[in-house]
Amino acid sequence: MNPLDIVIMAAGKGTRMKSRIPKVLQRLAGRPLLQHVLDQAAHLSARSAIVITGHGAMEVEAACAGGTSAGGQFDLKFARQEPQLGTGHAVQQAAPLLAGDGTVLVLSGDVPLTQADTVRALVAASGGQALALLTVRLPEPRGYGRILRAADGRVQGIVEEKDASDAQRAITEVYSGILAVPARLLLAWLPRLSNQNAQGEYYLTEVVAMAVAEGVPVTTHTIDDAVQVAGVNSPAQLAELERAHQARTATALMEAGVRLADPARFDLRDDARSGVRGELVCAADVEIDVGCVFTGRVELGEGVRIGAYCCIANARIAAGAVVHPFTHIDGEAAGVQVGEGALVGPFARLRPGAQLGRGVHIGNFVEVKNSQLADGAKANHLAYLGDATVGERVNYGAGSITANYDGANKHRTVIGPDAHIGSNCVLVAPVTIGAGATVGGGSTISKDVPPAALGVARGRQTHIEGWKRPAKRAAP
Ligand code: UD1
Ligand code: MG
Repeated sequence: MNPLDIVIMAAGKGTRMKSRIPKVLQRLAGRPLLQHVLDQAAHLSARSAIVITGHGAMEVEAACAGGTSAGGQFDLKFARQEPQLGTGHAVQQAAPLLAGDGTVLVLSGDVPLTQADTVRALVAASGGQALALLTVRLPEPRGYGRILRAADGRVQGIVEEKDASDAQRAITEVYSGILAVPARLLLAWLPRLSNQNAQGEYYLTEVVAMAVAEGVPVTTHTIDDAVQVAGVNSPAQLAELERAHQARTATALMEAGVRLADPARFDLRDDARSGVRGELVCAADVEIDVGCVFTGRVELGEGVRIGAYCCIANARIAAGAVVHPFTHIDGEAAGVQVGEGALVGPFARLRPGAQLGRGVHIGNFVEVKNSQLADGAKANHLAYLGDATVGERVNYGAGSITANYDGANKHRTVIGPDAHIGSNCVLVAPVTIGAGATVGGGSTISKDVPPAALGVARGRQTHIEGWKRPAKRAAP
């Protein structure tokens, strides 16, 4: 096999997106469209990928700097196309960077969901000799270049919609915009493209007629799956492809045994902040209710149940844990860990560095950040635990908070095992509550409480007998 060099056309403006962001950087499943295409280069073990940039070139080039999230090593190069005079003109810009010994695969930066097997089959069809076109049969072929075939079925050329006759417009086999061809042939054809057509553009598709004229074999690899060749031109198309992509992910999860209440209401995304790939790893008997969004890498242990409308990013949730509806878990870079059999939510918030042991309960409107809660600890209502180490079986009362930030620095709160923190307490860090200690409700604790002691820090209750409430003055 010849080495594979990929040319990705990504210079177009994307006017219909009506966005300041270059079209190829719009995100699908949290990943820029162009990144989806570059990932194919990794899956195909390409030697190089040349990205043709124009509109927003600096931004597009900078966005590619991180390489590909699919791994794989290939040489990434850029060629500028200014102004943009058509697809043929775009590929002309790559010519000086193309070695003569390879196979060239032309892809579009705005066609994100082509599967690696499809492209592999196309490259195989080229076989180092032929011009191979990826085509698709569309019941509604409007807007696409049509494949012209002779009576014996051999490909004669591609005609763009705007140049086509009525009879040609009736053809339903269309060109996907993706082709594979030996570099030596392409490099000979590129300088001969003309712009004598309805749009006054240099069409890459003109190489098909050149191949036919020279007796170079032209083959097609035809698929029926329109999603694989669908381009993104508008917000509506982006949303449509997003759903198609998510439906595929959902199907794969269900085939692996995950029970999704509704595959149409499921989302798995890359973490756009870090580029961490969206990956949901599930053990047996996981149940996920409707409307959940998973971001980055999330692991769910055996029998985990996720309630409706949870957002979960970068987290490990151990076997048997239950996450009730409307819970927000975001591990960012530090991660979140939920122990076996823990109960979280509804309406809970777990932030980076939250580590919950076995059987921990985190109830409604409880926020946990950078804190370890040992096995059996409970914070059931309206509480904040930040920068805290919480011992086994601690009961942390409703409305209590750790005051972990003094305005300049963060400090830790340590709560020993079996301590009982009453309701509405403020634990002013740094502070330690000893094992088995009790903190009286409403206390502001700024000194360590010894083990097994009762710490109370609040005004003593006094009574003024016969207290007269103010009475309303009579109107004059
Ligand atoms: C192209 C094909 C058409 C095919 C269709 C599939 C040609 C002449 N026509 O048409 O047969 O059915 O794709 O989607 O090739 N681009 C540049 N520089 C340019 C022009 C375009 O980089 O000067 C990039 C665009 O950003 C885009 C890709 O090339 O990623 C395709 O361009 P587009 O204008 O969408 O081509 P179509 O008219 O759709
Ligand atoms: Mg297009």
